[in-house]
Amino acid sequence: MQRSFTTESEEETVELGRRIGSLLHKGDTVAYRGGLGAGKTTMTRGIALGMGVSGDVSSPTFALVNEYPGDPPLIHFDMYRVSGGLDLESTGFFDYASDDCVLAVEWSENIADELPDNAVIIDISSPAGNGGRREITITGDDRFANL
Ligand SMILES: Nc1ncnc2c1ncn2[C@@H]1O[C@H](COP(=O)(O)OP(=O)(O)O)[C@@H](O)[C@H]1O
Ligand SMILES: [Mg+2]
Repeated sequence: MQRSFTTESEEETVELGRRIGSLLHKGDTVAYRGGLGAGKTTMTRGIALGMGVSGDVSSPTFALVNEYPGDPPLIHFDMYRVSGGLDLESTGFFDYASDDCVLAVEWSENIADELPDNAVIIDISSPAGNGGRREITITGDDRFANL
């Protein structure tokens, strides 16, 4: 199942993320594709709202992983500097990849081989010369058909 959306502002991307977050459950992995400033962290803020987890979502650029407690908790990774299995292991990715959390992974391109088969792919791109416009494509199971 694939759906595409266009958002015109940060707020619209948060709102789309909120709707996605309300459909997520434990064991899900959200894998982002899209470059710097695309809106991955912004969308994760919406996902956190939709999941009802607590905490202000910020970029995990330096920590590599931020945890937001909830039921289920949201675990937010930034794989920008991660390449290869050993590196990835040091982020704790494999310890979290249990059925008890939702994982949201920025720069998932860097760990493509390690993503679970059921990953929900969110591709965000920003068409040149269109300021706040983002094209967002979600690939996942039928849950997302009615977004
Ligand atoms: N439609 C939009 N959706 C998301 N962010 C947008 C949009 N339009 C402009 N922006 C801006 O783009 C930036 C996205 O930043 P961020 O979410 O941190 O990106 P990433 O995590 O992909 O690097 C923010 O400064 C945000 O205000
Ligand atoms: Mg980010």
